[in-house]
Amino acid sequence: MAVWNSGSRGDPQPCREGDEGKFEISSRDGRARVGKLHTKHGILETPALLPVINPNIRTIEPREMWDRYGISALITNSYIIWKHDELKQHALEKGVHDLLDYPGVIMTDSGTFQAYVYGDVEVGVEEIVEFQKSIGVDIATMLDVFSRPDMSELEVESAVDVTVERAQQSIDIAGDTMLNGPIQGGTFRHLRKKSAREMSTFDFAVHPIGGIVPIMEKHRYKDLAKIMLATLPELAPERPRHMFGCGHPMLFPMLIALGADLFDSAAYALFARDKRLLSPSGTIHLDDLQEWPSMLPCVVGYSPKDVLKMKEKERTAFLARYNLEVTLAELARCKQAVHDGTIWQLAEQRSHQHPALREAFLWLTTRPFPSGISIDVLDDLIVDDRAAAREISPEGGIWEGDWSFVIDAQSPRRKKGERWGGEDTLVRPHILAARKQLHTRWKPEENNRIDVLILHGAPGPWRMRCETLVLRMQSLLPSMEIFVQTPLGLLPYGLEDLNPFAQVDGPSWLWDRRPNPMLIRKELMMFSIDADRILTLDISLEKVVQKASELLQSFEIIAEPLIVDDSILPEQRKLLRRKQILQKLVVLANCNSESAHEMLDGCSFIIGGTGRVKNVLNASGKHILSPRLTDGGLSITDFGSEILYGYRSLPLPTEHNRFSPMANPGEGLPLVIIHDDAVEYILRGRNVFHGFIHACDAWLTAGQACLIVRQNGNLVGHGISRCNANEALRLRKGIAVRTRSDFSKTIDVAN
Ligand code: GUN
Repeated sequence: MAVWNSGSRGDPQPCREGDEGKFEISSRDGRARVGKLHTKHGILETPALLPVINPNIRTIEPREMWDRYGISALITNSYIIWKHDELKQHALEKGVHDLLDYPGVIMTDSGTFQAYVYGDVEVGVEEIVEFQKSIGVDIATMLDVFSRPDMSELEVESAVDVTVERAQQSIDIAGDTMLNGPIQGGTFRHLRKKSAREMSTFDFAVHPIGGIVPIMEKHRYKDLAKIMLATLPELAPERPRHMFGCGHPMLFPMLIALGADLFDSAAYALFARDKRLLSPSGTIHLDDLQEWPSMLPCVVGYSPKDVLKMKEKERTAFLARYNLEVTLAELARCKQAVHDGTIWQLAEQRSHQHPALREAFLWLTTRPFPSGISIDVLDDLIVDDRAAAREISPEGGIWEGDWSFVIDAQSPRRKKGERWGGEDTLVRPHILAARKQLHTRWKPEENNRIDVLILHGAPGPWRMRCETLVLRMQSLLPSMEIFVQTPLGLLPYGLEDLNPFAQVDGPSWLWDRRPNPMLIRKELMMFSIDADRILTLDISLEKVVQKASELLQSFEIIAEPLIVDDSILPEQRKLLRRKQILQKLVVLANCNSESAHEMLDGCSFIIGGTGRVKNVLNASGKHILSPRLTDGGLSITDFGSEILYGYRSLPLPTEHNRFSPMANPGEGLPLVIIHDDAVEYILRGRNVFHGFIHACDAWLTAGQACLIVRQNGNLVGHGISRCNANEALRLRKGIAVRTRSDFSKTIDVAN
């Protein structure tokens, strides 16, 4: 039986009592998030577009938006309703939902935008909030002061300050109605920060980023990116961020990747009036079309020429539907990209659609890099216009911290191989995060000046090609460090299967690049290696061992050919496996080298069908770890988590800590301290929910492993965190840690 949208949709279910205004994050990719905002008129899934409804001119009926398009929230203007007696009377008597004939979430704006366009509004600060409350809106907006880009710094500061001054009185009047607390600040970084910081201290439900319409109208997307970068680190992470007046689908991927949750726009209707079509790659005029850019449901049976012949009203409604459908499709694409961990790649692809968007993208990815990542090294790999983009960014290092905020939000590993997308690949935030983690935590076996061998010329897996060589070298030259040159940078051989470095999906010539001695030396410095001699070996050639032997002899590192008694190879193989697990413990579990050595003393390995380690057993034969074959990661067993916890030397965290992903190197996995009343559930393997966390370590990072501990210090579980240290105690709904343990069998539940 065919199934289709019959066109009528039931009314929404109100959220659970006590949940109104809570925002939970269900999926994330770096700073981008898919979330749920709980309201009396349903649970709004984000990122979402709230179409603007002008109550006087309804190009598409709100009911159709609900029924046909599944749009769960819209925005209208309370000032327009307040000014028109008929609308006002209807809204006051029957409510705004009845006025618009719409059952979903209704957000209203306050008249600030009218004040910006017409110079002033007649309504008072308290009066407009009171009015919004009395007509039953779900999310009201306070009367903020619009900061125009042409204002002086003093004028913008005054707009920020007056908005902050009006905050508390607006919140008091709003009572239990959710309220928008807009962020102003023009294009001044420090004023955006001030506004975000101060507005976050009040009890707002949502933070719109205001004053951006004139910036977007002029295609100043670089300034838009700067505003986002300055504002977001200062905003309360537990509240959705709304982009006031932004609804062009071309901007969605970049803004979502930077942390936007809500959009609103009248563009679908305004552009339709001018016969313009929205598209993820810009705006197109109907007069120029022979074919539709996208075959959307609303165009089936019509050609662009048919639509041109329509009467104006009919044509506008037709094109508004087209614009709405295209916008919803791009939003769905963005959401899926967040689930897939590819939102930055989507932003990267879209950046090529418009020169101003490309400028913004290059500006973002050309920030000076946080310590541990040297732009110089990337510089030499990058030959495009990025260098030029940097020269025209005179702000220099002041954005470093803000860009770090994007990198630090990333989970370095992905489930799949890294698709090569040209040089942009090298500055994807999760690639930078992976490099930062590697450079900060990995340490050479010896601190003295050492010799280094760089293997290059072929993609992984390298163990087939190089394992015999590595085993022989390890036996004869144990202090020599071996690295593989990957398109994403150097990778210590001990981590040879680590995603993303080992899984780059791209053209074969990527692997042919000859090592550049200067570059290699610089990158080794990031690994704290001041190399004595750097040798390079092309492993695409036949007879790798013989070639290596000749190379080492030519440097007089060995006198005889690189031959060892084959009987020692099994022992060397075991040593190599141990070294590989050890390096994973150091880089991925933040162990210090001594504890990792101790943990692996006397360990044995269960080998899988492919010859790789499947399970690691400790000296008493207990399963403690399993290397993950898919991404080169490490899975920890319940028993393994107890051993890891035993190496912690720091006291328990006692409060909320400011997120710092590379804090306390060597101190192991971060702790999440939970309330006592959650303990029995966690012991049985249930997830940790927000609201039950007492404290956490500063290096708690979304997507990475953590230990779950009760307030008396007893370990009760381990899992994968879904939040970072800034969010753990602030979010009030949703899963904080996905528990991977079940201690109910091993521990007395009453402990
Ligand atoms: N609509 C577009 N921009 C703004 C803004 O800065 N403030 C308010 N309240 N509404 C807007």
